[in-house]
Amino acid sequence: MDKKIKILGIAGSLRQGSYNKMLLRAAAELAPTEAEIEICDIGALPMYNQDLETNAPPAVTEFINKIKNADAVLFVTPEYNYSIPGVLKNAIDWGSRPYGKNCWEDKPAAIMSASPGMLGGSRAQYGLRQILVAINMHALNRPEIFVPAVQEKFDKDGKLTDELTKAKIKEQLEALAAWTKRLQK
Ligand code: FNR
Repeated sequence: MDKKIKILGIAGSLRQGSYNKMLLRAAAELAPTEAEIEICDIGALPMYNQDLETNAPPAVTEFINKIKNADAVLFVTPEYNYSIPGVLKNAIDWGSRPYGKNCWEDKPAAIMSASPGMLGGSRAQYGLRQILVAINMHALNRPEIFVPAVQEKFDKDGKLTDELTKAKIKEQLEALAAWTKRLQK
């Protein structure tokens, strides 16, 4: 049997009751059999400081190793003021340094976002896509997943109940697995 495709799932919210964390957990359950999603918490990362790059704190080294070991990355993020949250940008910046040692380099990525609002975090996604160009990740173009009115899509235990969203997640993860295999050829 071929080795499973390792997808590292990163949520852009630290909030305990985060809808985006719920969405990431739902994605981990809906992953195709050929892939597995490991959820990576970015809450322990310190604020990026270039002075710390040469002797990085253990939380940073651990984070960078997780990215290096992944075949692909799934970002599941809220939109904060039309952009990605600072905690996610902070994590991305840590992974991109020191200069010449960008651990995101050449990896495939997929993006999902969720918001109580009507646009489902779409404006943050396009900002994130621009950042992925800078760190030379290969973002999957389709299907895009924006989850609007997210509070209506999970039950009180944080389980995804919306069938359309479940179907889209499956579709995106299958596309990410195929995209990853294509890039590994
Ligand atoms: C928000 N929220 C928000 N929503 C949106 O659709 N567009 C936006 O620009 C913003 N801006 C914004 C800024 C800040 C600082 C906060 C705290 C929130 C609302 C946001 O989508 C909502 O709080 C989500 O529930 C956050 O995601 P999690 O934590 O549930 O995953």
